[in-house]
Amino acid sequence: MRYLTIDDIEPSGFRVLVRSDLNVPLDGGRVADDFRIRAALPTIQALRERGARVVVCSHLGRPKGQDPALRMDPVAARLAEIGGFGVHKVDDVAGPRAAEAVEAMGPGDVVLLENTRFEPGETKNDPVLADRLAALCDLFVQDAFGSVHRAHASTVGVAERVRSVAGLLLVRELDAFSRFLGEPERPYVVVLGGAKVSDKLGVVRSLLPKTDAMLIGGGMCFTLLAAEGYEVGESLVEEEMLDTVREVLAGPGGDKIQLPADVVVADRFAPDAPWRVTEAKAIPDEGVGLDIGPATAERFAAVVEGAGSVFWNGPMGVFEWEPFRAGTARVAQAMADTSAFTVVGGGDSVAALRMLGLEDRVSHVSTGGGAGLELLEGRPLPGVEVLERWVDG
Ligand code: 3PG
Repeated sequence: MRYLTIDDIEPSGFRVLVRSDLNVPLDGGRVADDFRIRAALPTIQALRERGARVVVCSHLGRPKGQDPALRMDPVAARLAEIGGFGVHKVDDVAGPRAAEAVEAMGPGDVVLLENTRFEPGETKNDPVLADRLAALCDLFVQDAFGSVHRAHASTVGVAERVRSVAGLLLVRELDAFSRFLGEPERPYVVVLGGAKVSDKLGVVRSLLPKTDAMLIGGGMCFTLLAAEGYEVGESLVEEEMLDTVREVLAGPGGDKIQLPADVVVADRFAPDAPWRVTEAKAIPDEGVGLDIGPATAERFAAVVEGAGSVFWNGPMGVFEWEPFRAGTARVAQAMADTSAFTVVGGGDSVAALRMLGLEDRVSHVSTGGGAGLELLEGRPLPGVEVLERWVDG
């Protein structure tokens, strides 16, 4: 991947459009977790300090049309609060009001455009929208690592039209992930969790030949256990994935997959449900598996602690509910304690790490979920590839 960065250009006086990934969870109209906003800040600050007119854009959620609940206003308020500078939020993505606001900017000013997905052309990478975004700027900065796997108007279309470089966050993320792509320090361990095996099957398949061990917990482990022939009661199972999962387990490298030997089983899917620890092969008919068991957590922790490099995406259980947090907490602690190179990605695992106060104890906390997985899978990232055309020109 070849690209220039903001350190290769002189942005003073330029209108610079920064694509950040400010897709953050909201709660009651306020930002519930500002991790991605904090991560986006260094690029915005660097450009401001160098005299650029900084126009920031991002998507927020997956709106169908103009959804008032997904306006960027709470994000603008939080960005201004933690950045310590004024943020002019415009109720327009790339129309006349956006153009007017950009026209009125002075050096160091920050404008935040409306949710890019309010424009129907965004996810289709519509050329007309890309033209309108391009008309707002002299330079485009790609800093939305969490969105570079999407070929949208604000991630790719605009970058085809205007000189484009990588922002500081994008560079930091790509550098961290590159440690897994070349010759990772061994043993190379991948820990996967989260609800759905269908979201992770691509990464499971492509990483099995490269890793030394793949530890699987979270809701997705019950589909794998079911594929192995275990009765898993009322636990989450993606029936339509069973045949494919069986093939993966029986295929090359399938023996590197480690599944839970014990699990925490609740009477129902509720935070106050009675629960107990059972062997994975003895889940009762009515039981719902909501966490890996303590013996499995210790085994996973030992593998992480003895690793040379570890990538973790997806919690081991329903960590938001205290009775089902222990598996995720044990793995998080092992990530903090190991001397291995450690990267944690995916909104839920990052949230768990932060809830446990361990985010400063791993090598890199990624702002990417799907983007990081696709990068590790070896799939091209259109939002990064598009930067290459500006390297020699
Ligand atoms: C994410 O949260 O992973 C990114 O912001 C991308 O969001 P999307 O999956 O809705 O494109």
